Amino acid sequence: MTNQLLKGDALKILPTFDAESFDALITDPPYASGGVTAAARAQAPLRKYVQGGGPHLHADFVCDERDQRAHLRWMHLWLTECARVLKDGAPVLLFTDWRQLPLTTDALQLAGFTWRGITVWDKTEGVRPQLGRFRNQAEYIVWGSKGHMPLQRRAPVLPGVIREPVRKADKHHLTGKPTALMRQLVRICEAGGRILDPFAGSGTTLVAAAAEGFCCAGIEMTDHYAKVARARMSQRS
Ligand SMILES: C[S@@+](CC[C@H](N)C(=O)[O-])C[C@H]1O[C@@H](n2cnc3c(N)ncnc32)[C@H](O)[C@@H]1O
Repeated sequence: MTNQLLKGDALKILPTFDAESFDALITDPPYASGGVTAAARAQAPLRKYVQGGGPHLHADFVCDERDQRAHLRWMHLWLTECARVLKDGAPVLLFTDWRQLPLTTDALQLAGFTWRGITVWDKTEGVRPQLGRFRNQAEYIVWGSKGHMPLQRRAPVLPGVIREPVRKADKHHLTGKPTALMRQLVRICEAGGRILDPFAGSGTTLVAAAAEGFCCAGIEMTDHYAKVARARMSQRS
């Protein structure tokens, strides 16, 4: 099966995939987060996630401005469609931040998945410090499975905390994840399996999956990032 990146809305493309055709869902959806008020969260990602002035290194992306109720409803919709295309027992990994952690665990369970834990991405001390506050250096990977997940799966023991900085040379998206981090996470999929990322961004999950010997399919709605993801995937082949 060939690896693919489809450009478009995940909610329209997911229904075109065959039922029970994926072995893992690993994705970093829009968080609809930022700031401490609803007004702050309604801003575009470039405004709310990038500090300081000067030229922006990365393009903006879509669908990150929903309020809590709309975001939960939207998460429920696409997660329900993912449940259809995943095989029984398939692992599900969802990135989130501290603000959206409760919403993300709710959405996972509302879609019928079994919530199994939270893995921490420690971004290290490289993140911007703020006097008198805790350093905001972690994001979270809420994980679970489609129903029963036997202990005897063909997958290794995985770390509960992954310490990995964001390096400029490896950042291809405004909120891109390090390839080394994603290479560790994709190992939750059983050997030889097919991984789905419906919010592929610059394609880091897909690049990591291919590097670790998995098949993969991704969806991305923002034109610019669909092109970046395709270019990164073709560099590997
Ligand atoms: C947080 S980013 C993913 C970044 C990715 N992990 C990386 O390392 O590049 C989420 C992506 O989802 C895309 N997106 C938002 N809504 C979408 C939708 N309905 N269908 C497909 N992609 C969507 C955005 O354009 C954005 O690039």
